[in-house]
Amino acid sequence: MFRLKKISQMKIVKQKSYILPVKNYLTISDMPKPKSLPIIGTKLEFLAAGGANKDTMQTWKLNLEKGCRFPNIESELYRLSSNVIINILLGTHSLELSDHYNEMLSLFSDSMKKIFQTTTKLYSIPVNWCQKLNLKVWRDFKESVDLTLFLGRKITREMMFNKNKSDGLLKRMTEENMSPEIITRIVSDLIIAAGDTTTYTALWTLLLLTRNEDTLKESRKGDQKYIKYIVKESMRLYPVAPFLTRILPQETILGDYKLSKGTPIIASIYTTGRDKQNFSEPNSFLPYRWDKTDPRKKDLINHVPPATLPFALGSRSCIGKKIAMKQLSEFISQITYNFDLKCNNNQQIKSVTSQILIPDQNIDFSLSVRKQ
Ligand code: HEM
Repeated sequence: MFRLKKISQMKIVKQKSYILPVKNYLTISDMPKPKSLPIIGTKLEFLAAGGANKDTMQTWKLNLEKGCRFPNIESELYRLSSNVIINILLGTHSLELSDHYNEMLSLFSDSMKKIFQTTTKLYSIPVNWCQKLNLKVWRDFKESVDLTLFLGRKITREMMFNKNKSDGLLKRMTEENMSPEIITRIVSDLIIAAGDTTTYTALWTLLLLTRNEDTLKESRKGDQKYIKYIVKESMRLYPVAPFLTRILPQETILGDYKLSKGTPIIASIYTTGRDKQNFSEPNSFLPYRWDKTDPRKKDLINHVPPATLPFALGSRSCIGKKIAMKQLSEFISQITYNFDLKCNNNQQIKSVTSQILIPDQNIDFSLSVRKQ
């Protein structure tokens, strides 16, 4: 609980925001809401689980059985995540897309990473100075944003060619008479928001499973609830969006501080999620802590669920939460059921922030087909 002080004793924190107003840019949340949910129920479930996902597992299996070395898992997971969002946009016809989509998506992912890297550097310097002085970091940032938007437009334009066949979200957006420019921005937003977040959450989860043999075994019993707890627990330890930022809409008292209206707030959910006052044994990977019925839970006295908010909260929280949870549960259960996993990294893997929480080194997983 927050300890309140007399107002006169409080420190007044005033901060200047260096964020430049970005003109003519709309995000998905600025858009008018569709009259009804575009895709609901079982269809969404099917698309988020990714009909293509099961095929992918078969392809992975066949390649491994033929002795092919498993490709880079990070880019495979990115491809799977992108497939899910493309499935949702194009519906049941998405599988007819040409191969060069994968290439474009991988370029898109690389230029997104550059945006993340340069944005992280820009955090330490006032952005308007960088802009005025035309520093390299600013030029790199601009270049990566331009390239990402260019690729986003290209990918969307190709999808628009298929829109008449589509029975997905793209078709619904055109039926709402949205302009092609707005649709392009929404599609780019969705691909950007969905790709890295789900990829790295899946990667962290697989890494934790390779280090927790008992949990890995338990995950194979086919209990979907338990898989969900695995994903939740992994996001508590490694929230890919480790900081939530808000501008205070009104004067607020927070702990010992009186903060004026307009103050930018950064909340570290990485820290609150690993605080022992919020979660007993905070650094241990214990998915059963989320299961009210599990007898082992009685030893974990502290349990404050709102202290971990991987999808944020409120009107600007993640709109893809349901899709992400469905997709991640499906990925994890498919991978753990079909494969044995090993992590070959010798050095300790730490997390670093590059806008999102990523490992500080490439993770080298070996997969082998599991005998069932
Ligand atoms: C593990 C996966 C994901 C995590 C951890 C995650 C996390 C978040 C968080 C924390 C925010 C809010 C940022 C803030 O409040 O400042 C957010 C926003 C958003 N997310 Fe996700 N996300 C995930 C997957 C997805 C997916 C799959 C989609 C799309 C299908 C998506 C679409 C969006 C969009 C469009 C926003 C912006 C919402 C707005 O500004 O109103 N996210 N996400």
